[in-house]
Amino acid sequence: MRTMQLVYASRPFGYDDLTLASILLQARDNNARNGITGCLICREDLFLQMLEGQRDLVTSTFSRILRDERHVDVVNLLSSEIHGRLFPEWSMRHDPAQSWMWTPKEVARGAIGGASDEEIRGIFERLASDRPAPMVNWLTPQRPRKLSP
Ligand SMILES: Cc1cc2nc3c(=O)[nH]c(=O)nc-3n(C[C@H](O)[C@H](O)[C@H](O)COP(=O)(O)O)c2cc1C
Repeated sequence: MRTMQLVYASRPFGYDDLTLASILLQARDNNARNGITGCLICREDLFLQMLEGQRDLVTSTFSRILRDERHVDVVNLLSSEIHGRLFPEWSMRHDPAQSWMWTPKEVARGAIGGASDEEIRGIFERLASDRPAPMVNWLTPQRPRKLSP
């Protein structure tokens, strides 16, 4: 079974806490069923999401995400085969964008599109080694699941 990692960036459309909570609820519910894990970084001007899982399930999830009207300008930044997950415990971790990531000005100037695969992966590796932010996580409990490696 082939496991892959996909990262995309997009611009939120109609961003607020309630919208974010509903996205996370839906994501965690579906992902737990599909054995998908990952992390969603959010800020008013940015969604940056990593999806990890079985190739066909990640692809079909990303196709649904592409059609979602709660964001625009979706750009696929990274798709690669992996041998181990960065977020094996998370059906979708949520993190607010951190001060060490791109500033809104840099994002507006297109910094993310020009980032290398290593830079993009490095952001998620750094987050995976940190404790998660508590914010919306209590609203949307995780479900136990069985995963491919
Ligand atoms: C920023 C963002 C991230 C999302 N992440 C996921 C996700 O990880 N998994 C998922 O199934 N849906 C995710 N969604 C929701 C999908 O776009 C779509 O609405 C949903 O998968 C449809 O599920 P349903 O057919 O069960 O209603 C996300 C949406 C947005 C805007």
